[in-house]
Amino acid sequence: MKHLKSLTSAGLALGMSGLFTALSSMPAIAAVPDGKAVFDRNCSVCHSVMPPPKSAPPIVPIASRYRQQYPSRSQGVARMVSFLKSPSKEKVLADPQAITRFGLMPPMQLSNAELNAVAGWVWDQGNAKGWGPGSGAGKGKGGCIQQQ
Ligand code: HEC
Repeated sequence: MKHLKSLTSAGLALGMSGLFTALSSMPAIAAVPDGKAVFDRNCSVCHSVMPPPKSAPPIVPIASRYRQQYPSRSQGVARMVSFLKSPSKEKVLADPQAITRFGLMPPMQLSNAELNAVAGWVWDQGNAKGWGPGSGAGKGKGGCIQQQ
């Protein structure tokens, strides 16, 4: 019995020190939200990253379209954040037909930091040359956003 007890407390001590290591590295992560984590929590219910779509256009074609329209990441991200806060037909950049197909996206109730992080992550998924052969899409152009 005594033996077992000391084993347990040793295990506990080890577990605790692991926890402290994890906690002490947290603040750095909390300061800048992780875009991918924000996406997984708030967007992935509707958006897949690659086609086929769930209930919204997939992210890679959207991001590629943003990259084609905006020369700089900061401009593209700012534009996307504005859309995420209050989506409207007028603001749609990627694919106007998406609204007919999926309906308008609901506004996101997230902090500016989270919106910037997730928009930056979305941007990073795109490819300025459009997406298709070479982007890992396999079949090339297609999905729900047509390239001209
Ligand atoms: C309830 C479902 C839903 C959720 C949740 C959702 N979206 Fe959307 N999103 C849509 C639909 C539907 C569209 C296409 C219609 C439109 O553009 O409004 C869209 C379009 C978009 C577009 C294209 C906008 C444009 O300029 O054409 C972006 C970028 C986007 N979503 C990003 C996100 C991000 C980032 C999140 C998470 C923070 C998110 N969405 C969460 C449904 C959703």
